[in-house]
Amino acid sequence: MDIISTLIYILLFLSIIFLYYVSRKQNRKHKGRPKLPPGSMGWPYVGETLMLYSKDPNIFFANKQKRYDEIFKTHILGCPCVMLASPEAARFVLVTHAHLFKPTYPKSKEKMIGPSALFFHQGDYHNHLRKLVRSSLSPEALRKLIPGIEAIAISTLESWTSRDVINTFHGLKKFSFEVGILAIFGHLEKKQREELKENYCIVDKGYNSFPTNIPGTAYHRALQARKRLKKILSEILCERKEKKLLEKDLLGHLLNFKDEKGQTLTEDEISDNIIGVLFAAQDTTASALTWILKYLNDDQKLLEAVKVEHKEIYMENDRGKRPLTWAQTRNMRFTYKVILESLRMSSIVSFTYREAVVDVEYNGYLIPKGWKVMPLFRNIHHNPEYFNEPQSFDPYRFEAAPKPNTYMPFGNGAHSCPGNELAKLEMLILIHHLVTKLRWEVVGTQNLIEYSPFPVPHHGLPARFWKESDNQEHFI
Ligand code: HEM
Repeated sequence: MDIISTLIYILLFLSIIFLYYVSRKQNRKHKGRPKLPPGSMGWPYVGETLMLYSKDPNIFFANKQKRYDEIFKTHILGCPCVMLASPEAARFVLVTHAHLFKPTYPKSKEKMIGPSALFFHQGDYHNHLRKLVRSSLSPEALRKLIPGIEAIAISTLESWTSRDVINTFHGLKKFSFEVGILAIFGHLEKKQREELKENYCIVDKGYNSFPTNIPGTAYHRALQARKRLKKILSEILCERKEKKLLEKDLLGHLLNFKDEKGQTLTEDEISDNIIGVLFAAQDTTASALTWILKYLNDDQKLLEAVKVEHKEIYMENDRGKRPLTWAQTRNMRFTYKVILESLRMSSIVSFTYREAVVDVEYNGYLIPKGWKVMPLFRNIHHNPEYFNEPQSFDPYRFEAAPKPNTYMPFGNGAHSCPGNELAKLEMLILIHHLVTKLRWEVVGTQNLIEYSPFPVPHHGLPARFWKESDNQEHFI
C-alpha cells in the first residue's frame, strides 16, 4: 500500500513538473506574438452592427477612438474588423504595406457594378485600368471638358429656378451624372443618354437594398436594369468601333487599349469599368457639393467672400457672356480652399475597407488574415492634433499644407481617387454659376444628417432657388 501511494505521489509530482514546463514553454512562445488590438466584438454574429447603424456611425467611430486610441477591433456585418484612426496606420495599410491588404466589397455589390471594375482588383490589370482612367482625365483632357461642364451646370441651375422646393442632393446627382457621361463618352445621342440614365437610376436604387433576388424587390429590379445597361453599352461600343473614331474620352482609351501581349479589353471589362466610374463619380461629387451649398448658406460672410472672387471673373468675362477659361478655374483660389475645407468637414468617404491577405503585425498588434481593415479618414480629419478646432469651418487653414497623410478625402495609395481633379473642376464651375446667377434659401432646419450611403444633409437639403435678377440684385 505504501509503495503504491508513494508511486502515485511521485507520478503526481512528475505530472505537475511536466505541466509547469509545458505551460512555461507555451507562455514563452506566445510572449513574442502580437496580440489582437483592444476593443469589443459585441454579440455573437451581429457583433456591434446595431450599435454602428442605430445612431450616427461617426459617433460610433469617435467614441471608439476616445476609448481605445488609434487602433481597435470590432465585429460588424458578420466580419471581424480592425479600425485604424491614425495617419500612420492609414498609410501603412493603403501605401507602404498595401500588398498585404486587398480591396474587399460584398459580392452583391460587386455583381451590381460588374466584377471587372478596377476597384475590385490589384496588380497588372488594376494598374492598366487605372492608367486609362487617369489619362482620360489628364489636365489636357479636363481643359477640353470645361465648355461641356459649363453647359451642364447652367442648364441644371436654370431648371431649379422654374420649380418650387428642390431636393438639392437629387438635383446635384443629375448634374454629376451628366458630367460623368460627358467624361466617359464625350458626345452621346440624347436617346442613348436617356436610356442609360433611366436604367442607371434603377441600379442606383437597388445598390444599397437588401440583396434578395426575388421579383418585386429593389435588388431584383436593379439586376434586371444592370442587364439592360450592358445591352445599351454594347450598342454604343459597336457604333464606336464601326465609326473607327480615335476619341480621347474614357471610352476611346478603353477601346484602344492593348497590353504588352497585344491583348485588348473584353466588352464586359469595358462596360463594368464604365459603370464603375459612373458609380464612383456620381454620389460622391453630389454629396460634396450639397455640403458646400449648406456651408455657404450657414455662413453668409463666407458666401460673400466666395461671391467677390466670382464677381471678378464674371466681369472679366463680359458679365458672364464669355465662357470660363482653364486659367480662370485654376485661379479660383478662395473657392478652392472652401472646397478643400468642405471635403474635410463633411468627410463624405468616412472610411474605406481592405482585407488582410496574411497575418499582419502593426505596432505590436495582430491583424489576422481574413479580417477587414478600415482606415477611418473622418477621424483623422477631425482630430485636433492635425486640424486645429476641427469642428469649425475654416478655409484659411488650407493656406498652409496639411501635415503629411492627414488629409485624405480622395483616399491614398494605389486605389486613391483618379477622378479627384475632375470632381474639383466640376465643383468650381457649378459654384461659379450658382453664386453669380442665383440666390437660394434652405427650407426647414438643417442640422440632421442622413446616409445614402454617403452623409448628406437631411432630406437632401431642400431649398428654393431664384435668379438674382428676379430679386433686382444682379451683379451688374
Ligand atoms: C468629391 C468627389 C469624390 C470623392 C470624395 C471621391 C473619393 C474617393 C476615394 C476616397 C477613393 C478611394 C477609395 C478606396 O481607397 O477604397 C476613390 C476611388 C475612386 N474614385 Fe473617387 N471620389 C470622388 C469623385 C470621383 C469622380 C468624379 C470619379 C470619376 C470620374 C471618381 C472615380 C474613382 C475611381 C474609378 C476610384 C477607384 C480607384 C481604384 O480603385 O484604383 N471619383 N474616390
